[in-house]
Amino acid sequence: MVNDLEQILLTKEEIGEKVKELGARITDDYKDCDLVVVGILKGALMFMADLIRYIKIPVLMDFAVVSSYGVSTDTSGVVRILKDLDQPIEGRHVLIVEDIVDTGLTMHYLVRNLEARKPLSIKVCTLLDKPSRRKVEFKPDYCGFSIADKFVVGYGLDYAEYYRNLPEVGVLKEEVYNKCC
Ligand code: IMP
Ligand code: MG
Repeated sequence: MVNDLEQILLTKEEIGEKVKELGARITDDYKDCDLVVVGILKGALMFMADLIRYIKIPVLMDFAVVSSYGVSTDTSGVVRILKDLDQPIEGRHVLIVEDIVDTGLTMHYLVRNLEARKPLSIKVCTLLDKPSRRKVEFKPDYCGFSIADKFVVGYGLDYAEYYRNLPEVGVLKEEVYNKCC
């Protein structure tokens, strides 16, 4: 797997430190709040699992599956909810946990969709952000790392469903995704 990487962008240690820092900020910001943490599967799986262990207030956990890319590395622009939340969010604070914000289409759509359910607030915490790729205006409330316009894998992020189990985040060699699809 590591041989398919052109560069390791973030080491396990760098990710770990950042997740701890974000958890502490979130703990501080949501003291005495009724908080639902919503992980966006499958990309945010690892980030969510690590982050909530650093959130030191009681939280509810929920998950959504939102369609974004097929096996291609470019966005289709079509966003669909494939698995909705299990719990109502009306009157609660919601924190969406996402792996990466790229064009911004997914988060822009999801936030608007969840807003219609009358939560007290909605914020987005993303591990990675590629601000140069935006197609719609969107700014995450919490962001681990802002990165350049490169396709990255690992720590939950995939290419064609592979590489999610890499502990690091790395840039995939172009020849790897160019040889397929
Ligand atoms: P957006 O709607 O374009 O912001 O896309 C967000 C989703 O696209 C993320 O949740 C990822 O699942 C996927 N994505 C965007 N960039 C990358 C990348 O560099 N590697 C892997 N997945 C990505
Ligand atoms: Mg995602």
